Amino acid sequence: MLDLNAARASFPALRSDWALFDNAGGTVPARPVIERLTGYMERHAVQHGATYALSRDAVAAVDAGRRAAACLFNADPGEIVHGASTTVLVQRMACALGARFAPGDEVIVTNLDHEANIGPWRGLEERGVVVKEWRFRPETLALELEDLEPLLSDRTRLVAFTHCPNVTGTIHDVASIAARIREAGAWSFVDGVAFAPHRAVDVRSLGVDFYVASLYKVYGPHQAVLFGRRELLEHAKGQCHFFFGEHDVPGKLEPGGVNHELVASLPGICEYLTSLDEGAQSPEPSAERLAGIFADVAAWESQLIAPLIDFLVEHPRVTLHGVPAADPARRVPTVAFSVDGMRSSELPPRLDERRLALRWGHFYAYRAIRDMGLMDRDGVIRASLVHYNSPAEVERLITALAELL
Ligand SMILES: Cc1ncc(COP(=O)(O)O)c(C=O)c1O
Repeated sequence: MLDLNAARASFPALRSDWALFDNAGGTVPARPVIERLTGYMERHAVQHGATYALSRDAVAAVDAGRRAAACLFNADPGEIVHGASTTVLVQRMACALGARFAPGDEVIVTNLDHEANIGPWRGLEERGVVVKEWRFRPETLALELEDLEPLLSDRTRLVAFTHCPNVTGTIHDVASIAARIREAGAWSFVDGVAFAPHRAVDVRSLGVDFYVASLYKVYGPHQAVLFGRRELLEHAKGQCHFFFGEHDVPGKLEPGGVNHELVASLPGICEYLTSLDEGAQSPEPSAERLAGIFADVAAWESQLIAPLIDFLVEHPRVTLHGVPAADPARRVPTVAFSVDGMRSSELPPRLDERRLALRWGHFYAYRAIRDMGLMDRDGVIRASLVHYNSPAEVERLITALAELL
């Protein structure tokens, strides 16, 4: 079982009396991340690529960050591309892969994803790529494999979809979907941003071709990483200088290089996560170890969110958008709701007064909120928890909602 006090003690930003329920927007950084970031800037901030020892040490610190990011996905460092954000990485990959598509090739996007994993693929229409839309089921607000089936054809090159929408928190069965996409001869490109803070990501067992996540939502710095199967990254068109060769991965897909201090801070995420492993002696992460740690996180999170979900489901004025249960196999603790007779923008300012931090809007899942018919109600109110939230904070939120609604 997760030791909440020990976990919270690792986050300097949790010392305030604000209850943070906007974690799907961004989590606060863990202390080992902050220490590595400042440590790099204090000790290693010299140029890379020189023969002097300081330069070699700086490269080693960044390489350790690359290995840590790979470990978080159970990938090899040579299959990981770093970037400033998921939005930037998807845009870059749409250029890099789109350059290999021919007019008439097909790409499938959803109407449930964050726009970061829709817009860049839709942009390929300008190159003659045909874009099809895999729509969520209105009754479950989830994607069904059955509905993808008629969209697949022998021209399908790539299907871009979400592991878990950042609004509803519903978990999709990525392994089954990715297997079907591969069988159809296409590539899966999965947005794992809203999933990765809550569960272990194992790109090998998921069988995906591409997977992307933002580490500033996984207790890390403002930074994102993309996994791509090595041969596909080699196939992709380079986005850097002409003299970077086809096999110069990830360099050819990291124009301008990476942000050194941010990448160097990434082992701090693994260090923090492994510290949750009770009685563990070593900070060394592994896929099995992360799977065990995140199993505890999942059990704890579902216990944490259950009273809030029950309250929202039972409240006569509230509609919960998503799975109406705290089942950790079906959802993460990201909860979206709307209130009859109230615009979603009305409630958060009143919660601000009680130092409860959450937000309203479309959260850049613009098409999903539009197709849910909620745009003219200012979207939804989203309470997004992670394991470092406390039962007392959840109780404060429920009490406030009971008084205000
Ligand atoms: C599900 C999802 N995908 C993509 C993004 C975009 O991430 P970034 O801010 O790293 O561009 C977000 C950001 O909120 C998100 O929640």
